[in-house]
Amino acid sequence: MAEWLDAQLNKYGVQTQKVALGKQEIEGQTLDLPPAILGRIGGDPKKKTILIYGHFDVQPADKNDGWEHEPFRMHHDKTSGKIFGRGSTDDKGPVLGWLNVLDAHHALKLDLPVNLRFCFEGMEESGSQGLNELITGETAKKEQGWFVGVDAMCISDNFWLNTRTPCLTYGLRGIAYYQLNISGPGSDLHSGSYGGAVYEPMTALISLMSKLVTPEGRILIPGVYDGIEAADAAELQKYKDLDYSVDDLESDAGGKIANSTEKTTVLMGRMRNPSLSLHDIEGGGGARTVIPASVTGRFSLRLVPPQTPTDINKKVVAYLESEFAKLNTRLNIKIECSPGGKPWVADTNHWNYEAAKRATEAVYLQTPNYTREGGSIPVTLTFADNLGVNIMLLPMGRADDGAHSTNEKLDASNFIQGSKLFGAYLYEIDQLTKA
Ligand code: BES
Ligand code: MN
Ligand code: MN
Repeated sequence: MAEWLDAQLNKYGVQTQKVALGKQEIEGQTLDLPPAILGRIGGDPKKKTILIYGHFDVQPADKNDGWEHEPFRMHHDKTSGKIFGRGSTDDKGPVLGWLNVLDAHHALKLDLPVNLRFCFEGMEESGSQGLNELITGETAKKEQGWFVGVDAMCISDNFWLNTRTPCLTYGLRGIAYYQLNISGPGSDLHSGSYGGAVYEPMTALISLMSKLVTPEGRILIPGVYDGIEAADAAELQKYKDLDYSVDDLESDAGGKIANSTEKTTVLMGRMRNPSLSLHDIEGGGGARTVIPASVTGRFSLRLVPPQTPTDINKKVVAYLESEFAKLNTRLNIKIECSPGGKPWVADTNHWNYEAAKRATEAVYLQTPNYTREGGSIPVTLTFADNLGVNIMLLPMGRADDGAHSTNEKLDASNFIQGSKLFGAYLYEIDQLTKA
C-alpha cells in the first residue's frame, strides 16, 4: 500500500518521501514498520498550506467471519450502490478521495488553489507506532522541520452521525486499553479432579471484570469521572441541534439497544462522556470441562477532557489490584496498558471549519452536523500539540458503514460526493483567506 500510494502521488506531481519508521516486534519476529509517506505539491507563499492525513492500514478481516464477499477484494454492488471491502470506509476510501482531487487537477491541467502536504501512515490501527516519533522529531528540528509552513490540517478518518447528513467533526474521545491476565495452575486442569479444591483463574477474572462497569454503563473505577465538567446550556443546545434520533442509533446498530430514549442523552453518551467496554476473554476451555490455567480479559475506556491515559492507568491499576486482593485467592494477576491516546476538542471558529461548511453546502446542498466523535485517532493529538494549527475532521462515510466489522462498506455516492467535497473545501479556503 505504501509503495502504491507513493507511486500514485508521484504520478500526480506530488514530491514524496518514504520515511522509515524503525522496527516492530510481531510474534517473535523483528520487522520493518511500514514507512510513512510524506508528500508536498505547491509552494506558493500567497496560498495557504493544508496538511492532509490518512491511513492506509486496515483492521484484519476473514471471509469466514460472515463477509458476503472476499474482504480484500473490492466489491461494488451496483443495485445498492455500496462498495464493500475491508478499508472501504476506514480509511482507504477517504485516502482515495484525496487522490481523486489530485487526479482531476492533473488531468485538467489546473493549479491547486492551496499548497498541499500529505502525511499517510500504515500503523494507525496499531496506535500510530513510529509516526508519533516522526512528528515530534520534525518539531524538534524547529525551522528545518518538515511540517513547518502548514497553516491548517484536515483528517478524513471518521463518519457521519447518521446516514443522510454530512458533518464536520471537532472532537475525538481518547482511549486507554487494557489486558488483564489471571493465572495460577501449571496447565489446564480437569474440573472433575480439581474443581472445588483449587482457586480458578476464570472465576477471579469474571469477578474482576464485573466490577468495572454497570450494565447501564456507569464506570465503577474510583476517580474516573474527576474533573469532567457538566454540560452547560450552550453545550446541551449543540446536541439538540444535531440531525439525529434514537432510531438512527438503533438502525445503525442493528438492534433496539439504546440505553436512553433521549436523543441528547445518547449523543452525550458517545460524544462527551467517558465509557468502558468489555471486549474479550481469551484462554477459556471451550466446550471442554477444564479449568483454564491462564485467562486474559480485554477492556478499554474512551476518554474525554480532562482525562488522560496516564492518569486513568494509575486509577485502573490501583482499583484492579485492590479488588484482586479482596478476592483473597492465591492466583497471579498481570495488568498491561497499551499506549492509548488523549481526547481532543478543537475550536470550530476558524476559516478551516468555515471553508468546509461552505463546501458542504455547495456539494450536498445541506448544512453540516457539527459532531464530536466517540472513536479515537490518537495521532490527532500529536499533530495538535506539535504543529499548533487548527485541525478539522471531514468524514466521507456514513454511520452505518461498519468500520472494523464484517461487510464494511462505503456508499459510492459518498465516495464521489466526498471527493468533490474535498476539492471544494480547498477552493473555499482560498476564497476565505484571500486578502
Ligand atoms: N477511523 C478510526 C477512528 C474512529 C472510530 C472514528 C470510530 C470514528 C468512529 C480509527 O481508524 C480507529 O479505528 N481508531 C482506533 C484507535 C486505536 C487503535 C488506538 C479506535 O478508535 O479504536
Ligand atoms: Mn481510521
Ligand atoms: Mn479504524
